[in-house]
Amino acid sequence: MKIENICCIGAGYVGGPTMSIIAQKNPHINVNVVDMNADKIKAWNSKNLKNLPVYEPGLSKVVKEARGRNLFFSTDVNKHIEQSDMIFISVNTPTKMSGKGKGYAADLKYVEACAKQIAEVSKSNKIIVEKSTVPVRTSEKIKEILMSNNIDVDFQILSNPEFLAEGTAMRDLEIPDRVLIGGDNTIEGKRAVNSLVEIYSSWVPKENILTTNLWSSELSKLTANAFLAQRISSINSLSELCEATGADIEEVSKAIGMDSRIGSSFLKTSVGFGGSCFQKDILNLVYIARSEGLDKVADYWEQILIINQHQRDRFSKKIIDVIRKKNLEPKVLLLGWAFKKDTNDTRESAAIYVANNLLNNNIKIDVYDPKVAEHQINFDLSNVTPNYEKSSVKFVEQPFLNISEYNIIALMTEWDEFKAFDWDIIYKKIKKPAYIFDGRNILDSINIKKIGFNYIGLGRK
Ligand code: UDX
Ligand code: ADP
Repeated sequence: MKIENICCIGAGYVGGPTMSIIAQKNPHINVNVVDMNADKIKAWNSKNLKNLPVYEPGLSKVVKEARGRNLFFSTDVNKHIEQSDMIFISVNTPTKMSGKGKGYAADLKYVEACAKQIAEVSKSNKIIVEKSTVPVRTSEKIKEILMSNNIDVDFQILSNPEFLAEGTAMRDLEIPDRVLIGGDNTIEGKRAVNSLVEIYSSWVPKENILTTNLWSSELSKLTANAFLAQRISSINSLSELCEATGADIEEVSKAIGMDSRIGSSFLKTSVGFGGSCFQKDILNLVYIARSEGLDKVADYWEQILIINQHQRDRFSKKIIDVIRKKNLEPKVLLLGWAFKKDTNDTRESAAIYVANNLLNNNIKIDVYDPKVAEHQINFDLSNVTPNYEKSSVKFVEQPFLNISEYNIIALMTEWDEFKAFDWDIIYKKIKKPAYIFDGRNILDSINIKKIGFNYIGLGRK
């Protein structure tokens, strides 16, 4: 089936960038990205490309090229569902906050609502593509909802999980390691898989497009993320051991990573991984394993999250201890709020949890991030800090304007500009004794200790 009209439900961090690239590479296909959030759609349509709702290097260039040509953003969900041959579901699947599976299972209410809406509106055959990360066998549930609400139309369900990482999303989409497409092993299923293969083939070499059955595709996404997160928790757990033994985590990480069987990616110690995927996907994996009665398997994967939280708490404690022992004013300048550099996304960012720990110990915080807005920081904190008071947190646009008020800087995100700051000048102005807690170990290379700072990184004495 030759696809002429695509509809993508969900104009978020996944839907927006992915559809922009699909439209750019397939000028003959109309791509309509729809969302019920009118403000978001307005932002996607804004003339000034700086106002796009997602900050992602390289995104605005692609939007500029395709928007208005064959890429459109709209709130008219029903119209575009009806007109499309292929529908991507790219809505959020947060962890369930109540009911069965609370705290672990993915909440599929948004996915299910989409399936219901698609069934109600559709008058012609459609291919439905799961883009959101979902538990294994979700496609079966989608199929059930579609079939029970519309018997006149043939729906083929595909799983096409997203492997883009925020901050490098455009590159990851343009040159993906692989594109994974799962479908039914029937004639119609294979035909649907081929339709999607054709779309990606516009720019991805065929050998990098992997087709599997639906369940393998769904489970591969969860487990790929679990493997990546596992490496970070492994290196983070060793950072504590390094501090105890006198080994240096950067040296250990380099030595481990040079083994070609292990490889060097995802071995960077940090104050803990964040982002919308890792924690959610592992919780989901743990839930699935436990539901199958596989407690040992569930415990194994859950340990990754236990270490991640431990790393955030341990980093917070280092700051709290210094304030207490040295009797310093309880005030900290946090540099960075995004969960990693080059994104404005703050979901599950380690900064939120460290800030929460500091606030719970009556330590005031000022926050600077080059891409995150004040309202987002307030929103994040009000979700984790009971009785959160806005007055205990100040959002600063120029981080060093009042530098003489602090003894302590805590580095939370690895933004490049932090390395480029003039630390000599900052040292001259900051209150003494001056401390830098480096949650990303990015300042050691500029010899910050020689300048005079007390430097506390991770994984070294
Ligand atoms: C991740 C997966 O990489 C991607 O394939 C999937 O589609 C979505 O989830 P993302 O969460 O956007 O992507 O970013 P990623 O680069 O994986 O980083 C996740 C977190 O791990 C960040 O907080 C990052 O700072 C941290 N991290 C990463 C480390 O602490 N150390 C590392 O070595 C690598
Ligand atoms: P992700 O990182 O997975 O892209 P986001 O939260 O950034 O997640 O984006 C998901 C988007 O999906 C949100 O903008 C939300 O408004 C939208 N959405 C959720 N459910 C529906 C729905 N039923 N119809 C239209 N849009 C939806």
